[in-house]
Amino acid sequence: MRPMMDFRAHRVKELFREVKTFAVLSSKGGVGKTTFSAVLSMLLAKGGAKVALADLDLTNSTTQLVLGVHAEGAPVEEGKGFKPLNVAGVKFVSPLLFTRGRPLALRGSSASEALRELLVAAEWGELDFIVLDMPPGLKDEALEVASLGARLVVLTTQDPLSLHSVSRALRFFKEEGVEKVGVLENMAYSAPLLREEAGRLGFKHLGTIGFDRELSAAIGRPERMMNTSFARDVEKIVPSLVAL
Ligand SMILES: Nc1ncnc2c1ncn2[C@@H]1O[C@H](COP(=O)(O)OP(=O)(O)OP(=O)(O)O)[C@@H](O)[C@H]1O
Ligand SMILES: [Mg+2]
Repeated sequence: MRPMMDFRAHRVKELFREVKTFAVLSSKGGVGKTTFSAVLSMLLAKGGAKVALADLDLTNSTTQLVLGVHAEGAPVEEGKGFKPLNVAGVKFVSPLLFTRGRPLALRGSSASEALRELLVAAEWGELDFIVLDMPPGLKDEALEVASLGARLVVLTTQDPLSLHSVSRALRFFKEEGVEKVGVLENMAYSAPLLREEAGRLGFKHLGTIGFDRELSAAIGRPERMMNTSFARDVEKIVPSLVAL
């Protein structure tokens, strides 16, 4: 993977070494990364942990919608650190804090730099866990956080296209020497389909989250969200996830 380029990369690497960090990603879009990241963070916080949640989907930040907060235009002092928002006990940061609602259309190394900046400039205080809501695909942002030492939580649905795409991504991570990888099947309608393959590659299969037809109505309402079957399914996989 790419060599470290500046002091911020070094700082982020230190941060990920000190605080267990889960990058929630997938080679596929729309598989539930943002919903899972938000619910996982709130569950960890509810259990008493100090949790950071960073939306690293720079061009399509949506974590604030799931949490039901307005991240746009929160006060940020240029040149200094900034305070994360507090939502349901979770310290939350989003690029929208800086862009006042506009998407950050960045390419290549600019995207990696923006995500380092966001993680380094935030005044996190004490933390037990960091959850990173990643954009779809295996491009700069995903490769960056993997190379900086985040544990990868790879989401897929049980749809053949998603399974195919994610299997390929898992083989890629194996070839790249990434060790801490967990696989999670969302919107599941059957027993796990990637368990064997994950095991063969030496990765951990974290389980399944069933399709929850009540979920849409709970989006943007943290309390209601925590009472969904989605949240109950996530809760079941938390112990094996934190052991990743
Ligand atoms: N288990 C589930 N049951 C029902 N609906 C779900 C489930 N998981 C996610 N969804 C729904 O699927 C849609 C996509 O979810 P989400 O935005 O979290 O995916 P994503 O992977 O972050 O997408 P993107 O790749 O665009 O970032 C949302 O409408 C969400 O409510
Ligand atoms: Mg998303």
